[in-house]
Amino acid sequence: PNQNEDNLRSPICCIMGHVDTGKTKLLDCIRGTNVQEGEAGGITQQIGATYFPAENIRERTKELKADAKLKVPGLLVIDTPGHESFTNLRSRGSGLCDIAILVVDIMHGLEPQTIESLNLLKMRNTEFIVALNKVDRLYGWKVCKNAPIVKAMKQQSKDVQFEYNTRLTQIVTQFKEQGINTELYYKNKEMGKDTFSIVPTSAISGEGIPDMLLLLVQWTQKTMIERLTYSNVVQCTVLEVKVVEGHGTTIDVVLVNGVLHEGDQIVVCGMQGPIVTTIRALLTPHPMKELRVKGTYLHHKEIKAAQGIKITAQGFEHAIAGTSLYVVGPDDDVEDIKEAAMEDMKSVMSRIDKSGEGVYVQASTLGSLEALLEFLKTPEVSIPVSGIGIGPVHKKDVMKASVMLEKKKEYATILAFDVKVTQEARELSDELGVKVFMADIIYHLFDQFKAYIDTIKE
Ligand code: GTP
Ligand code: MG
Ligand code: NA
Repeated sequence: PNQNEDNLRSPICCIMGHVDTGKTKLLDCIRGTNVQEGEAGGITQQIGATYFPAENIRERTKELKADAKLKVPGLLVIDTPGHESFTNLRSRGSGLCDIAILVVDIMHGLEPQTIESLNLLKMRNTEFIVALNKVDRLYGWKVCKNAPIVKAMKQQSKDVQFEYNTRLTQIVTQFKEQGINTELYYKNKEMGKDTFSIVPTSAISGEGIPDMLLLLVQWTQKTMIERLTYSNVVQCTVLEVKVVEGHGTTIDVVLVNGVLHEGDQIVVCGMQGPIVTTIRALLTPHPMKELRVKGTYLHHKEIKAAQGIKITAQGFEHAIAGTSLYVVGPDDDVEDIKEAAMEDMKSVMSRIDKSGEGVYVQASTLGSLEALLEFLKTPEVSIPVSGIGIGPVHKKDVMKASVMLEKKKEYATILAFDVKVTQEARELSDELGVKVFMADIIYHLFDQFKAYIDTIKE
């Protein structure tokens, strides 16, 4: 056995897939919660995190293997939206995880955001399992609440088994068309080498959930010992920046490695430069509860990775989601760390047109801003950018964009991607003649801008 086995952090698992395949419901089923029914329109629009302690996983999987040895302290699962507008959040989630669950609706097979998710995972070489969800929707399914899938399948009629096999075969073929080999997990001896595992599940009646949990834990602790060996070098990413009643502007982070303490001096990347502040409180939801859902928080003096944490401190108003958080150690030079914290921002700034002629673009996060700049640069689009912003469009952004009125009128335009425009900003833009285009899908911004240019030229 490896000497590191006693010093593992919890694996981070990202759950991804097309809209409404049951990602949140699967987590609800494990948590015993009802997060999904509380979501506006039943769709997830934020990234979330839930910690599952090993004892809960042991309890939930005991029917499969009473003696299964769990070496990891737990599992941290990141929920992502499946709606097409939230590519940036899928990208952020997949960038953070050790392993992923790709959820496919057995009745629908592969869908556009399944393929998009698959490409994100391929790009980063992230291993994943496929949860083939909604098996209870097979016609005539006999519910075997929370049963392991093989046991549940034995209870089914010949017709159900036939439909199941037919759909499974079709979906395996669809994956093959994407260049991915898949196989039912209990037949797959390779475990991720060349063939990815499929676990049939139901988020409503719980069949296959024990299998999914055990597979995740066993696979990670078997094949990722090195990656999962705890390191005390802090590695931490800002998931969301949120105003919480009674706490002011807070940040939700995923601590991948290291320890955070109350009172630690930290640095995060901000719109107006690096934010140097002190951790006032370290909060987590209760185990098996979702970080993004309002609830009661547990206060901690210190927290060890891996964990999803809400941090309260002064000065987070302009913090940028998707960037790294740094802790200033006793031997560290704050100036060096401030510079490191702003690195993410620099790479984005360097993409701005130096001639100073171009549109102003505004996006919800650094990640989505990068995606937008990348898109505007492609030859088919080729729209120069002279200024950027993150977060809602304010008056000051309109002021900056208005500079172009004198230089090149059509560039006196704000492309607002997935952000709100304040009432005052709207009024000022009307007054000055600055065009503001809003969309939550990148391509739509281009379409609107192009149509506008065409009308100007006429
Ligand atoms: P987004 O986050 O919006 O992308 O959706 P999601 O993938 O999280 O799916 P969600 O959990 O919101 O579930 C979508 C719908 O499918 C809800 O009405 C669920 O009740 C239903 N659903 C999810 N899983 C199952 C399942 O296993 N069986 C059945 N019958 N319905 C399910
Ligand atoms: Mg969801
Ligand atoms: Na949904």
